Amino acid sequence: MSEVQCNSRIAGVGHEVPPRVVTNDELAKIMDTSDEWIQQRTGVRQRHFISGDTAASELGAVAAKRALAMAEVEACEIDLVIFCTLSVDVDFPGSASLLSRNLGLRGVPAFDVRNQCSGFLYGLAVADKFIKSGRCRRVLLVGGEIHSTGLDQTTRGRAVSVIFGDGAAAVLLVPEEDRNRGILSTHLHSEGKYAEKLWVEAPTSRCRPRLTEEMIVGEEGRIFPKMEGRYVFKHALRRFPEAIDEALRANALSVQEVDLFILHQANLRISEAVAMQMGVAPDRVFNNIDRYGNTTAASIPLALSEAVEKGRVKPGDLVCLAAFGSGFTWASALLRW
Ligand code: UT7
Repeated sequence: MSEVQCNSRIAGVGHEVPPRVVTNDELAKIMDTSDEWIQQRTGVRQRHFISGDTAASELGAVAAKRALAMAEVEACEIDLVIFCTLSVDVDFPGSASLLSRNLGLRGVPAFDVRNQCSGFLYGLAVADKFIKSGRCRRVLLVGGEIHSTGLDQTTRGRAVSVIFGDGAAAVLLVPEEDRNRGILSTHLHSEGKYAEKLWVEAPTSRCRPRLTEEMIVGEEGRIFPKMEGRYVFKHALRRFPEAIDEALRANALSVQEVDLFILHQANLRISEAVAMQMGVAPDRVFNNIDRYGNTTAASIPLALSEAVEKGRVKPGDLVCLAAFGSGFTWASALLRW
């Protein structure tokens, strides 16, 4: 198939979080932590947790309907579904299939992208290519996570569990004839040698059985996410600016020309340090980690959705997206709204 000369553009965006708000003080009742520590070290004031057995694909479907409404596109017009998540609803089939079912889609290709914190940008890169190639015209790209059911909410797991929250967000991508509008570029990277620095080890297909009692109740708590926080932090401070620089250089644009930076919401101190390092005034960086925590694959579209809702992204604005996380993986995208 010949390459079609078009860009892809986000025509609609929407988000959904579970109604239950969990404050830092509530966490301090079940583990040795404090509101002061969490706010100072991470910037998180509260997060949303599911209360029943809601799946990420269900939150994703609500977010998707909002993105479709904004784009004035019917679900039946979607010709590709991509779901980015690390907290799959079930081992298989993929969450994209379950999301498609929730939207009543039939026969539409659907697949998952499992690239953790960079997942949404990896998904965006793939969606963009499908549209540029002329193969698709209406791509639904969703990031959704349920972290709350997988965290070690005891003092042992406090360094990780106070950061994360549940949520989903979606964008609807369409072709854009103006090559100066829409997604201008995407850049993706990974370095698997750091896999163990931020990971969940179990259940694992490397063991028979895949899940044992020891994995659940053993001292190591192998079913819970583990992170070498300071190590990850240091790498993030290097990789975010690199990824942003790469995006700007590829488009012959400067930091000053970017209207809004939306970085993966990993830690407010990371966003602030990256901004300072790059000479970006704080008011050009959008953060909402204080209210949602880190929602991994949902974090960038959730921030984008709120930024659009609040009028922080206007037609013609240049927006830079960047992510870094488990894998390690990191990525950036530049778009003209
Ligand atoms: O989204 C994917 C990418 N993720 C990231 O980029 C996250 C990067 N890392 C971080 O954001 C930070 O490293 C954390 C927020 C995870 C941890 O903050 P930190 O400032 O690096 O703390 P630390 O792990 O070095 O721990 C400092 C102290 C320790 O106590 P001692 O050994 O100094 O007595 C911890 O035990 O803080 C203690 N601590 C806590 N205290 C109260 C760790 N977690 C908590 C907690 N409440 N929740």
